[in-house]
Amino acid sequence: MNTIKLVVIGGGSSYTPELVEGVINNYNTLPVRELIFVDVPMGEEKVRINTQFIKRMIHKAQLNIEVSYTFDRKNALKDADFVMTQLRVGGLKARSKDEHIPLKYNVIGQETTGPGGFAKALRTIPVMMDICKDMEEVCPDAWLINFTNPSGIVTEALNKYTKIKNIGLCNVPIGMHYDIAERLEVDPKEISCNVIGLNHLSFVNKVYYKGDNVISKALEVKKKDGIVQNISKIDVSDFIAQKLGLVLSPYLQYFFFEKEMLEKELQELKDDKGTRADQVQEVEHKLFELYEDESLDHKPEELSKRGGARYSEAAINLINSIYNNVGDIQVVNVMNNGSIADLPDDASVEVNCVINKQGATPVTNGHLPLAVKGLVQHVKAYEQLTVEAAITGDYDTALLALISNPLVHDAEAAKNILDDLLEAHKEYLPQFNK
Ligand code: G6P
Repeated sequence: MNTIKLVVIGGGSSYTPELVEGVINNYNTLPVRELIFVDVPMGEEKVRINTQFIKRMIHKAQLNIEVSYTFDRKNALKDADFVMTQLRVGGLKARSKDEHIPLKYNVIGQETTGPGGFAKALRTIPVMMDICKDMEEVCPDAWLINFTNPSGIVTEALNKYTKIKNIGLCNVPIGMHYDIAERLEVDPKEISCNVIGLNHLSFVNKVYYKGDNVISKALEVKKKDGIVQNISKIDVSDFIAQKLGLVLSPYLQYFFFEKEMLEKELQELKDDKGTRADQVQEVEHKLFELYEDESLDHKPEELSKRGGARYSEAAINLINSIYNNVGDIQVVNVMNNGSIADLPDDASVEVNCVINKQGATPVTNGHLPLAVKGLVQHVKAYEQLTVEAAITGDYDTALLALISNPLVHDAEAAKNILDDLLEAHKEYLPQFNK
């Protein structure tokens, strides 16, 4: 592998220019020679606008990277070195349904956590399997770096059902790292954090600074703002984190403060603000208007309104450490293989891993703290059932998955939500309509 061919599936995402900014800034260590954006015809306008904008960015940086877009996925994948997946089956319209339907039954409506993430997994996993089938044929040695949500559940499906080398990524761990450095008022490069848990259900249990574990010091500092734009911070969350002795992923608010989070979502509906998906559609609209402007040749500030901050940094760090065989530690989603003693070996976990040419090897963590062990195991059981439901299209497995989601509570609500989701997303769920 001399120079790199990078294929981005879901290239029409409004986040793509941020990824490319990372590619440009790291060209010296990561010589990308070809960048192909793959999308579906429904997303043509966005992927075309992105490609033109990105060509201007690359021209400004005076780099020799060939850029194009296509709908022909298999052809694009030929001889790829890295494949990044950031697709959204059904687009933001489908996400909006994922968020609205559970709210009808007084259940959290969120794109990755709760029934919203469940529905997204059912739509996404079969498409990811098709991508892997293509990869097995035309680029069997390429690395698949997956951002597509629910990232942890998708990782588990990939590890159980394909041979393709893959790693799941999320921007939350890197966001937590920067947040902790800010609390300690130190350079992020000077600390190392240990992450345990699952994707969007993770905790930092150790923070090292100059050889000492300073997590208690980090927990003493209260911060007003959260680390992702899509989840506003609940004041008391710092207090709970202190009691647990763990820095919390913002997504834990849905579990620890479920009532308050649900009330917020219901209030936004009453105030005609819609759900996050509805709000994001407006942000996206503005972003693409900007991207279309031929005088724009750098990433606009407006992109920071999206929740995926630092996703490019996480992706580039990972690809760089694989490509250059660095052997540093990064937080990614991989198969547990004993890293967390309380979870099955074949479960996907989000933990510190050593990253080199061989991929990601998780560090050994031992047992989870008792106060969160049950929650993590509970969510993992839901995730395992969700993977099985997405692969088999079996209604009963899907129902059991929803019943076992800790945010659903009620079997009748689970059934109602499932029936509504299956109906609303019929066209994207062929496995349930055999
Ligand atoms: C967070 C999550 C991502 C998610 C994003 C949504 O950053 O970690 O997994 O995709 O938020 O942001 P959005 O702007 O689409 O609501």
